Amino acid sequence: MSVEKTFAIIKPDAVESKNAGKILARIEAESFRVVALKRHRISKREAESFYGEHAAKGFFSSLVAYMTSGPVYVAVLERENAVAHWRAVMGATDPAKADAGTIRKEFGRSIERNAAHGSANPADAAREVTFFFSHAELI
Ligand code: CDP
Ligand code: MG
Repeated sequence: MSVEKTFAIIKPDAVESKNAGKILARIEAESFRVVALKRHRISKREAESFYGEHAAKGFFSSLVAYMTSGPVYVAVLERENAVAHWRAVMGATDPAKADAGTIRKEFGRSIERNAAHGSANPADAAREVTFFFSHAELI
C-alpha cells in the first residue's frame, strides 16, 4: 500500500446540522492529512457533471437538488490506502445499513442525505480532486 489521495465532501445536511467539525475531527483522528479544504456552494451544473454516472437513475434530480441546497466542504485527504480507508470510515451509502461507528451511521439522515461523499476508486479520486481544486490549492 502506498500514500494516495482521495476526495471528500461534507454534504449539505452535515454542514446544516453543524456536524462538519466533528467529521473533520474524525478525519484527523483517522490519520488523514488534509491537503485541501474549502467551503463551497455546488452549482446545478457542477452537481449534474459530478454525479454524471447517475444521470439515468431515478434519484438523480433529487440528488442534484439536495447537493445544491446549501454549502458543503470539499476536501482532499491523503494517507496510506486513502480511497478505501475513507470509504470504510464513511460506511454504507444507506445510513440504515452502515456499520456502527461510521460517519454515515452517526450523521446521515437518509440514503440521499448521507453526510459525506468519498471517491469510489483512485481514478475517480484524481478526476474529482481536479474537478474542485487547482494544483496550487493542493498543499
Ligand atoms: O456515495 P456512494 O458512492 O456511496 O453512493 P452512489 O451509489 O455513488 O450514489 C451517490 C449518492 O447518490 C449517494 O451518496 C446518495 O447521496 C445518493 N443516492 C440516493 O439518493 N439514492 C440512492 N438509491 C442511491 C444513492
Ligand atoms: Mg459513488
